[in-house]
Amino acid sequence: MKLSVPALLAGFFSLALVDAVSASQCRCTYGESCWPSDSDFAQLHSLLSQPLVYPKPTASPCYPSSSPSGNCSEVQDNWANATWRSDLPGSMEEPNWETFTLSNGTIESCYLETNITGTCEQGNVPVVAVDARMASDIQAAVNFSVTHNLRMVVKNTGHDYIGRSAGKGALMVWTHNMKNISYDSAFVPEGAPSSETYNAFTFGAGVQWFEAYDAAEKEGRHIVGGLGVTVGTTGGWIQGGGHSSLSPTYGLGVDNAVQMTVVVSTGEHLTVNAHQHTDLFWALRGGGGGTYGILTSVTYRTYPVVPVVAASFSANSTNTSLLQGLFTSSFGMLPSLGDAGWGGYGILSNTTLSFFYMSPNVSWAQANETWEPFFSQAENLTQAGLSIVGATTMNFSSFYTLWDEAGLSPVQQGGGAMVLGNRLIPQQAIESNNTGLTKALLEVIPDVSWNSVAGGKVAEADPDSAGLNPAWRKALVSINWGATWDDGTDAQEITGLLNTVKEQEASIRALMPESGCYFNEASPFEADFQYTFFGDHYAKLKSIKDQYDPHGLFVVRQGVGSDEWNDDLTCRVK
Ligand SMILES: Cc1cc2nc3c(=O)[nH]c(=O)nc-3n(C[C@H](O)[C@H](O)[C@H](O)COP(=O)(O)OP(=O)(O)OC[C@H]3O[C@@H](n4cnc5c(N)ncnc54)[C@H](O)[C@@H]3O)c2cc1C
Ligand SMILES: *[C@@H]1O[C@H](CO)[C@@H](O)[C@H](O)[C@H]1NC(C)=O
Ligand SMILES: *[C@@H]1O[C@H](CO)[C@@H](O)[C@H](O)[C@H]1NC(C)=O
Ligand SMILES: *[C@@H]1O[C@H](CO)[C@@H](O)[C@H](O)[C@H]1NC(C)=O
Ligand SMILES: *[C@@H]1O[C@H](CO)[C@@H](O)[C@H](O)[C@H]1NC(C)=O
Ligand SMILES: *[C@@H]1O[C@H](CO)[C@@H](O)[C@H](O)[C@H]1NC(C)=O
Ligand SMILES: *[C@@H]1O[C@H](CO)[C@@H](O)[C@H](O)[C@H]1NC(C)=O
Ligand SMILES: *[C@@H]1O[C@H](CO)[C@@H](O)[C@H](O)[C@H]1NC(C)=O
Ligand SMILES: *[C@@H]1O[C@H](CO)[C@@H](O)[C@H](O)[C@H]1NC(C)=O
Ligand SMILES: *[C@@H]1O[C@H](CO)[C@@H](O)[C@H](O)[C@H]1NC(C)=O
Ligand SMILES: *[C@@H]1O[C@H](CO)[C@@H](O)[C@H](O)[C@H]1NC(C)=O
Ligand SMILES: *[C@@H]1O[C@H](CO)[C@@H](O)[C@H](O)[C@H]1NC(C)=O
Ligand SMILES: *[C@@H]1O[C@H](CO)[C@@H](O)[C@H](O)[C@H]1NC(C)=O
Repeated sequence: MKLSVPALLAGFFSLALVDAVSASQCRCTYGESCWPSDSDFAQLHSLLSQPLVYPKPTASPCYPSSSPSGNCSEVQDNWANATWRSDLPGSMEEPNWETFTLSNGTIESCYLETNITGTCEQGNVPVVAVDARMASDIQAAVNFSVTHNLRMVVKNTGHDYIGRSAGKGALMVWTHNMKNISYDSAFVPEGAPSSETYNAFTFGAGVQWFEAYDAAEKEGRHIVGGLGVTVGTTGGWIQGGGHSSLSPTYGLGVDNAVQMTVVVSTGEHLTVNAHQHTDLFWALRGGGGGTYGILTSVTYRTYPVVPVVAASFSANSTNTSLLQGLFTSSFGMLPSLGDAGWGGYGILSNTTLSFFYMSPNVSWAQANETWEPFFSQAENLTQAGLSIVGATTMNFSSFYTLWDEAGLSPVQQGGGAMVLGNRLIPQQAIESNNTGLTKALLEVIPDVSWNSVAGGKVAEADPDSAGLNPAWRKALVSINWGATWDDGTDAQEITGLLNTVKEQEASIRALMPESGCYFNEASPFEADFQYTFFGDHYAKLKSIKDQYDPHGLFVVRQGVGSDEWNDDLTCRVK
């Protein structure tokens, strides 16, 4: 075949084009020659309200062990303290996300136990961060990252279970210190008629739930937030869905947000709500954190304070099938519990079953009527070897007193290496075949925990009213299991543990293939994450992402558009 000159030229140009594209297909990360110079960073600094910060892994003050650079006892004392960890720019709640595993199996880490490797490696912790206090700090960081083609990560509290708030060699925007809280009993969203008012709180990007609950209590209002009170009000929680034990009564976080402000990759600071940039407002409510821009605030509606009743149960046995039978009975109650506004949390192992539910929707007498049959079923099993640790109902004057008195305020919950598996269980599956379903579940995951945070108001909302995974609207409960390991475990052994989680995930998925997972509490390995996390909203979310993030700056693992990037999210693959 004879090639014409134009064809040859076309071949030449397309080759040149490929070269140009591949050169810019990868993000510039720390250590490469493209990394911005000191004078570039000085230029960035001149635009910021605060000095740049240089995040370090949590245990770094303990190194070198012969002469620690900082207060190692403070690190040891607070290792599991989720509040303390969230105050540090380089600390992730699950420290496995501070580590980076090289392709040859070497784990770059900075373990608390200094004698495991002897050195503190930066691992997956970004090397430099903008300590954002106002939108202009974030705009400057965004502009700088786009100009220098940097990988950028957004970190709020570092609670993300898939490590989306860390990234090797990235520039971090740290939103933790944006602590403004304002209350307006007649908040009017921008662009709304003046008659459209909400009794609302507006939280800056760094406000955490324990701070929000205190603020709402002072105004005599109630707000729908996380049980994990060190979680942020305005970061990953809301963008992934945001569940509360009160969600069956009031809806999810995404159902309660009335306005957001956000810096997008063009540097613009937008106000989005039901009247302006409605598409972006839709995507930000459930379409995933770290994907569309950087939220600077979220405004939430509030509710009057009402009494809340609670039911608590805990029992032990060496007869596991006895406990599993009770677990099945308690799951059978979920459809009617959700309808009556009950939400809660539980955990089952081979020796213990415990759960805690609450409702602001029923009286104490009604609560007793609801739980009496279950409690007496358990009572009957004591002869068969069940040991009841506690089975009781309680009445609280408000959700605030409940979480305060029941000891739900900041607890020791961070500091352990962990990966989760997750599935949203449809109401229909429980209603039609609870016994078969729970039996099949427990064969795969005998150790299971659950968040009964759907049904009721969550199910009533139009599935297309927010970008959230529509599977939530059909679900009653979100189940979790997982793997944990000790520092120093080698990469091969960790891979084995993770493979078990993946296999369990496949088996559970096969039981309910049409359902999905909760973006914020799922595994890093979900097959077909597009459907699993976003259902049939994926295509619309992707087009909104492309429109508002033309630079492709915001990429997180298993987030919308992340399939266009390699596993490290540093190079485009399509
Ligand atoms: C101890 C614990 C308790 C939990 N309890 C609950 C609970 O009760 N209910 C529930 O629904 N979930 C709960 N979760 C899950 C929680 O919702 C997720 O971990 C969530 O990702 C946390 O968001 P964050 O902003 O606090 O954390 P981060 O890890 O800082 O951020 C999470 C993600 O959001 C992005 N992000 C953060 N801030 C912004 C911003 N301003 N703009 C854009 N993107 C941003 C980050 O890039 C990252 O991708 C809990 C998690 C833990 C570890
Ligand atoms: C180190 O931290 C601990 C708290 O864990 C504190 O009691 C102690 O005073 C600190 N030491 C120094 C030298 O600051
Ligand atoms: C956890 O850390 C916070 C913030 O540093 C501190 O105020 C609190 O006292 C600590 N809690 C415990 C139980 O040590
Ligand atoms: C793995 O690779 C790193 C970086 O190239 C190197 O420093 C290390 O020695 C290697 N480890 C092994 C066990 O080969
Ligand atoms: C490190 O030291 C601790 C206590 O000092 C000890 O229990 C542990 O076995 C040591 N680990 C290694 C890997 O040497
Ligand atoms: C926070 O509130 C203070 C006082 O009301 C105000 O001056 C400041 O501009 C606010 N900051 C942001 C980022 O909204
Ligand atoms: C960032 O870029 C936008 C758009 O080009 C511009 O409006 C804004 O002023 C820039 N902000 C900063 C802080 O440089
Ligand atoms: C029940 O089990 C828990 C956890 O295993 C244990 O802490 C507790 O002591 C046990 N209680 C009884 C009454 O056996
Ligand atoms: C529960 O499981 C643990 C290990 O996971 C095992 O050691 C223990 O014997 C089991 N107990 C019962 C009662 O089956
Ligand atoms: C355990 O409980 C199951 C179900 O209640 C019962 O059938 C079985 O006999 C019990 N096993 C033992 C060893 O008691
Ligand atoms: C509900 O039951 C509890 C015991 O669990 C009891 O103390 C309380 O008086 C009962 N409340 C009502 C209103 O019947
Ligand atoms: C508990 O046992 C009693 C007496 O055997 C029986 O009447 C009752 O129906 C049982 N309750 C449940 C919930 O199984
Ligand atoms: C109930 O679920 C089990 C486990 O998935 C399944 O094997 C069984 O066929 C189901 N039964 C019905 C009636 O759907």
